[in-house]
Amino acid sequence: MAVERTLAILKPDCVKKNLAGEVLSRIEKAGFKVLAMKIVRLTKETAGGFYAVHRERPFFGELTTFMSSGKCVPIALEKENAVADFRKLIGATDPKDADPGTVRRDLASSKGENIVHGSDSPENGRIEIGFFFSDKELIENM
Ligand code: RTP
Ligand code: MG
Repeated sequence: MAVERTLAILKPDCVKKNLAGEVLSRIEKAGFKVLAMKIVRLTKETAGGFYAVHRERPFFGELTTFMSSGKCVPIALEKENAVADFRKLIGATDPKDADPGTVRRDLASSKGENIVHGSDSPENGRIEIGFFFSDKELIENM
């Protein structure tokens, strides 16, 4: 299996509920290497840029309002098979559909407010990490 990178974002509901440490702990215990991490408050426009692929979807306004409603924690992660393994760790988009023991099933309140983001392909992982982090901020380049 190839070593991949994926971007996690601890969403505003995660930070507001003081669950950032809990989710980071699960990420670390699952064997992901943290390359870089920061706390950011997105504007509605920046959130829209990040989720641009969804701009025609009916939930886009709700999504960008939510993602700009408080601080987020983007985390650049690396591991073998990182993209699929991370999505397995967090579970399905809607916590009602997520497997028991996953982050979203255990901690999320709704499909919209679902605690954490994960990239959906290795290519998007690289692009999304670049959205938040410069090469200099990625540890292996320092
Ligand atoms: P994410 O990108 O945040 O990791 O989530 P995902 O791949 O599991 O789901 P995606 O289809 O990419 O949707 C992005 C985020 O939009 C919100 N959403 N709300 N109310 C709704 O029907 C709805 N559908 C999606 C969620 O916050 C979802 O994580
Ligand atoms: Mg997605």
